[in-house]
Amino acid sequence: MLRRISLSLLSMSLGVTLFAADGKTLFEQKCAGCHMTTRPTPEQRSQMVAPPAMGVMFHVKQKYSDKASAIAFITEYALHPSKDKALCPSIRRFGLMPSQKGAVTKEELHAIASYMFDTFPPAGFKHRRGMRGMGMRED
Ligand code: HEC
Repeated sequence: MLRRISLSLLSMSLGVTLFAADGKTLFEQKCAGCHMTTRPTPEQRSQMVAPPAMGVMFHVKQKYSDKASAIAFITEYALHPSKDKALCPSIRRFGLMPSQKGAVTKEELHAIASYMFDTFPPAGFKHRRGMRGMGMRED
């Protein structure tokens, strides 16, 4: 009995680990080409084609602070982006994100969005005025 419980606990934690790793890998494959995962240097800043992941999640979490609704928003947005739904002011610099329909499935997006929520912005992140140059200023 005890052995059965510890076995199922083991497979549960393995499952959780695999799921989390999956979201990270999928994000790197399908999103990080546009959304960088680190804070941009001034040089990178001028070459960016989209807001960094930390900026995206800063804005998403301001509106959707609970994980489930943040995941729902990200999944929906990646498949059907629109100006009305956009939370990032940087849309004015970068233009609307192209729909990722066909490049990523809903299930993959769930894993990706869960990873994004857990990872960004990193601890100690400050939304500075200096981010104006990143197109991340709010007004
Ligand atoms: C071809 C470049 C490109 C790729 C690939 C891309 N994005 Fe984006 N994304 C953008 C741009 C540009 C914006 C900023 C404009 C906007 O908000 O639509 C953006 C904004 C976003 C936002 C914020 C939307 C808001 O509220 O303003 C989310 C969430 C997002 N992307 C998720 C993703 C996910 C998840 C993936 C991978 C499946 C992905 N993006 C792949 C270009 C891209």
